[in-house]
Amino acid sequence: MGWLVEGLRIARGAAVTSFAHEPVMLSEVVELLAATPAGIYLDCTLGGAGHARAVLEKAPQLTLVGIDKDPDALYAAQEVLADFQDRIQLERGSFARAAEILETSTDAPLSAVLMDLGVSSPQLDRGERGFSYKVDGPLDMRMDPSSPLSAEAIVNAWPAAELARLFSEHGETRMAGRIARAIVDGRPLRTTTELADVVTSAIPAALRRSGGHPARRVFQALRVAVNDELVVLGPAVDSLVGRLAPAGRFVVLSYHSGEDRIVKDRFRWASTGGCTCPPQLPCVCGAAAKVKLMFRGARRPSQAEVQRNHRAKSARMRAVEGVVGEGSKW
Ligand SMILES: C[S@@+](CC[C@H](N)C(=O)[O-])C[C@H]1O[C@@H](n2cnc3c(N)ncnc32)[C@H](O)[C@@H]1O
Repeated sequence: MGWLVEGLRIARGAAVTSFAHEPVMLSEVVELLAATPAGIYLDCTLGGAGHARAVLEKAPQLTLVGIDKDPDALYAAQEVLADFQDRIQLERGSFARAAEILETSTDAPLSAVLMDLGVSSPQLDRGERGFSYKVDGPLDMRMDPSSPLSAEAIVNAWPAAELARLFSEHGETRMAGRIARAIVDGRPLRTTTELADVVTSAIPAALRRSGGHPARRVFQALRVAVNDELVVLGPAVDSLVGRLAPAGRFVVLSYHSGEDRIVKDRFRWASTGGCTCPPQLPCVCGAAAKVKLMFRGARRPSQAEVQRNHRAKSARMRAVEGVVGEGSKW
């Protein structure tokens, strides 16, 4: 291996000068993924390749297929992984297409899989990407700048009821209806600051004092919708679990409860094979586990890490390991 999608450089034109993203729970991820059999390491959310580089350094038996929707991330990753040219394949696209992307290079089972969900620090920090209520910029929020749906289109076109449903489901805010109506009344909204101000003004003053910035969850919900984040997650986890090699490991870092719930459910299903027998009795329903859970529940970053990197605060890590069984393809 050792190729890069040709369109990558062309797609961006100008060089990305810096891509500062501190990989979350790095030592925990490396410890899990480096202890895997020789073969393919699929990084579904390559970002600035902080995790990928550390895994490749520690695990010479692995070759990387790295995917990201964001051309800036791939550009940065290419630089970060320059020492590993003969062990990497970088692809622009959604991990929803991982099976198709893998087909072009390998049909081998996967030794290691990582999903580090959500956004990278540069996506949040660069105003022009429109992800952050803290930095002024256009209402964009697209991880893939060529995708047709931006936050501006949602904010200015969706009916109030649809916005309220989105904010309630993916922003988990009790003020969803009020916020949606304020947005509709405030149209047109073009910038992150305009949206953040409208959201803030929709929240009663007494409630503004608790729970962080009132716009945080609204921005999260919009980002989820713009990038179709939760729709693709479950099917992608299922499909990649099915490609895991015996003793191969699949690690997911999620950053909000909607993501973590999906990962928890899909991993639990894969680890029981959908078994319906009472837990205290032997299985008689014929279900075959595809994986075993590496640990119960979700692991959290250490306090020291959260102090150093505030963006790690909401991280939850789950991991499974492939087993040989009837349910396994391998
Ligand atoms: C938290 S960052 C990953 C950081 C990375 N682990 C590192 O060490 O630098 C998440 C990345 O996933 C990408 N991403 C999110 N959803 C994606 C999807 N469905 N398909 C491909 N990339 C995705 C984002 O563009 C972003 O670059």
